[in-house]
Amino acid sequence: MKRVLITGCLGQIGSELTLRLREENGRDSVIATDIRHVAGNEVIESGPFEILDVTNKARMMVLARKYEVDTIIHLAALLSAVAEEKPQLAWDLNMGGLVNALEVARELDLKFFTPSSIGSFGPGTPAVNTPQDTLQRPTTMYGVTKVSGELLCDYYYQKFGVDTRGVRFPGLISYKTEPGGGTTDYAVDIYYEAIKHKSYTSFIAPGTYMDMMYMPDAIDAIIKLMKAEPSQLVHRNAFNITAMSFEPEQIAASIRKFIPDFEMKYDVDPVRQQIADSWPDSLDTTCARNEWDFNPQYDLDKMTKDMLEKLTNKLKNDTVVRH
Ligand code: SER
Repeated sequence: MKRVLITGCLGQIGSELTLRLREENGRDSVIATDIRHVAGNEVIESGPFEILDVTNKARMMVLARKYEVDTIIHLAALLSAVAEEKPQLAWDLNMGGLVNALEVARELDLKFFTPSSIGSFGPGTPAVNTPQDTLQRPTTMYGVTKVSGELLCDYYYQKFGVDTRGVRFPGLISYKTEPGGGTTDYAVDIYYEAIKHKSYTSFIAPGTYMDMMYMPDAIDAIIKLMKAEPSQLVHRNAFNITAMSFEPEQIAASIRKFIPDFEMKYDVDPVRQQIADSWPDSLDTTCARNEWDFNPQYDLDKMTKDMLEKLTNKLKNDTVVRH
């Protein structure tokens, strides 16, 4: 991973991964790409940036050759709730982008990472301690693209020898970039509202357990998996990973440890609730721990403390900039 092309660099994962890799390996170690340019954006300003629509394979190839990258980290995709609103676009973008990125990796012999998700599971999957290898019949377009992506990555490894790797991410919680259109996003929104209004109206019902992880652990996981010796890997793609499993009342209780008068209300969104109900409660991460030493550091309270501190500072600075 000496020089990496990242797609979707302005997204929730991309923005933090780009900055972290540049910090560790230098500004030119990442060619950051996204479909849009945002003036003054920290990620764009911190090193090489190019506009890239991932459905344009020719341009992706031109950029990969121009910068002589050795790795593609393909992150551009629509998340679950948006994908349910625009299923055809989700298929075209999530699958079209992935197959293009895999083709570029195959032709140029590049290492490859792309994330799958808890969304790749469906109502028929064992919900508790969900095994690494199990039934996957998702009922969302997002899930359909994620399972297909897992299979495609395995295929490119087996058929063409492309060094594909990946994880199934749970809901990711971060303060730098706001996520867009995910079902697990309630667990991010809640921190913003807790700081601003000491109150949050959740679109996910109490009692709905989902796996979650704090972004620093997610970034560590990507880097660790990419560095793992191939001989250690029994699986290659779609490793189950998670750091915690909670339901809305538990994250509210964690916030109350720091903001005692925080109030939780509910106005359930049937679309996102149905998606959440079709996903597992808690994944078994044994394979990731054994094969490449996956070892997350943040539990719910440690994450809450850090989120509230960092977000409070961020919101203060945003106000200062705006005035
Ligand atoms: N966080 C994602 C979503 O909610 C799941 O991978 O769509």
